[in-house]
Amino acid sequence: MKVLVVGGGGREHAICWKLSQSPHITRLFCAPGNGGIESVAQCVPIAATDVEGMVNWAKGHAIDFVVVAPDDPLALGMVDAMEAAGIPAFGPTADAAVIEASKIFSKNLMKKYGIPTAKYEAFTDLDSALAYVDEQGAPIVVKADGLALGKGVVVAQSVEEAREAVRSMMCDHRFGEAGAKVVIEECMTGPEVTVLAFCDGEHLLCMPSSQDHKRAYDGNQGPNTGGMGAISPSPNYTAAVAIQCMRDIFLPTVAALKAEGRPFKGVLYFGLMITPEGPKVVEYNARFGDPECQAILSLLDSDLLEIMAACRNGVLHQVDIRWKSGAACCLVLASGGYPGSYVKGYPIIGISEAEETAVVFHAGTMLADDGTLQTNGGRVLGVTATGADLNAAIDAAYQSAKCIHFTDMHYRTDIGRV
Ligand code: AMP
Ligand code: GLY
Repeated sequence: MKVLVVGGGGREHAICWKLSQSPHITRLFCAPGNGGIESVAQCVPIAATDVEGMVNWAKGHAIDFVVVAPDDPLALGMVDAMEAAGIPAFGPTADAAVIEASKIFSKNLMKKYGIPTAKYEAFTDLDSALAYVDEQGAPIVVKADGLALGKGVVVAQSVEEAREAVRSMMCDHRFGEAGAKVVIEECMTGPEVTVLAFCDGEHLLCMPSSQDHKRAYDGNQGPNTGGMGAISPSPNYTAAVAIQCMRDIFLPTVAALKAEGRPFKGVLYFGLMITPEGPKVVEYNARFGDPECQAILSLLDSDLLEIMAACRNGVLHQVDIRWKSGAACCLVLASGGYPGSYVKGYPIIGISEAEETAVVFHAGTMLADDGTLQTNGGRVLGVTATGADLNAAIDAAYQSAKCIHFTDMHYRTDIGRV
């Protein structure tokens, strides 16, 4: 089979790396890909959001199966467009991906179906939003409605900070159209856990739990990022919590989407907080998380293409998914300055040494004309190691990362320890 993966970050590198182990695949392509994905797939220079360009290319190259990994093309309906062109595709339709693309949609869905989440109100009018902040007091959470690269959320510790967040989203258009509407919600407390599940529209199969580290600096300080590192499984996800989540959150969500005429096929991401009143949903995503994907897929023992095809064909209950025992850690090496501005184009050294004990997934890298590997993004690499237990995996990831160098490289030293 000829398979095309859409996207070009660390998550897509991990997906391509895993798919490249499938005996069903004769040719693997990735668009746009990156400097590291080149080693497992042929990169094609088409932007991930270019739906028409992607469909035309896939048709022209007789692609048998497409995997759409990032949020934007899913929200733009790339899966719908591929299927309409007769090309089977993995991922939710735009109608189902709205569970991530609109926080107002997902909050209303949870309210309608009694799925536990933070109490909230949605606003399109600045004065009403500010009045609600004043009335509720702090701490309080302000979220842009639409997609904002994981950065459209402000957990405000004071009323002034919350008012400022509302103003910057609604008046200064800090997140463009994504912030024209906002959700203001109750601030929950407790450890955060992520659970990803393969879904076929009706059934779901959970992957091992995971935990992202969204803040830029140690001790969960500094600005929110796309994610600075992930571990799997999460020590906070006990067997008792898993049973509660399945009954109160996972099954009701899949059933709700089906009942709304938006059956979800693909990877459904449950961002959870284990609050004193039990697990609650912080957010849904309609795809693999990045960097959670890198940690989780390094524990997958089965053929990823078979699982993805079963999701698309609505026969997930027929596949047997095996996971390796033990744990995994993905440590993100970022450009100095990320998530703010940073310089690109620094040479990267030491990856082959690091790969003696880990797998290094590339996120923001490119191969320069002279063949050297250079930094080309905020999150540059995801050093991913497995081990017999979490401590062993974390130690191995840090040990391997020591081999890698580029100017102003920044990473957290406490992934899996906070
Ligand atoms: P989100 O993009 O919705 O996942 O939000 C980013 C981060 O903000 C989450 O991982 C949480 O740490 C935090 N957060 C979001 N919503 C809440 C909430 N209602 N209460 C407390 N923290 C929250
Ligand atoms: N790591 C969080 C996300 O992918 O949204």
